[in-house]
Amino acid sequence: MTLCFATNNLHKIQEVQAVVGNSFSLLSLRDIGCLEELAEEQTTIEGNSLQKAQYVFEKFNVACFADDSGLEVEALNGEPGVYSAMYAGPQRSHSDNIDKLLAALTGIENRKAHFKTVITLIQENECHQFIGLLSGTIVTERRGANGFGYDPIFVPAGYSASLAEMTLAEKNKISHRAKAIQQLIAYLKFKMEDSSCR
Ligand code: IMP
Repeated sequence: MTLCFATNNLHKIQEVQAVVGNSFSLLSLRDIGCLEELAEEQTTIEGNSLQKAQYVFEKFNVACFADDSGLEVEALNGEPGVYSAMYAGPQRSHSDNIDKLLAALTGIENRKAHFKTVITLIQENECHQFIGLLSGTIVTERRGANGFGYDPIFVPAGYSASLAEMTLAEKNKISHRAKAIQQLIAYLKFKMEDSSCR
């Protein structure tokens, strides 16, 4: 079975390919001849994930899935959410984003937040979304140097280390992205087994 992962991030493709093994062959956007940046114009993470998958399915006529992620902070009514990458401006600076978030939470006691990944799978006649969540709290200062984005100020529930103090392998065991990917893979494997019985 061949599926397009609507990204040109080879790291993401390798990560998913390693989990699915030989049962699926994953194509990147480049592999299907899509060289443009996919639009993300919706106001929710779910909407952006759907927009990217729908665009690829309709324009290139291939079964595909797309992901979109963000950080939702309870006391900020879910901000930065779908705007996580550009929270502090179009320069997409992780450091500026962290500074802005810490400033927005100054003096606020409720530091609860979660990361969310939504993967949208579109195949002929079907569209499914898989959601992975990682709950935790926003700490008051940066901790650790690993990872990216908001990792230095996010401590997962039940842990004392921030995501940036964990190794990639430790983060991948609990991350929102890994949880959404695992659901997608379980679904695809179920479908393959189901169709091989017919
Ligand atoms: P994307 O949709 O995976 O590109 O994620 C959008 C933005 O959400 C990133 O640029 C980060 O600001 C934030 N984000 C998503 N996942 C993570 C994560 O695992 N750690 C830290 N920040 C993240």
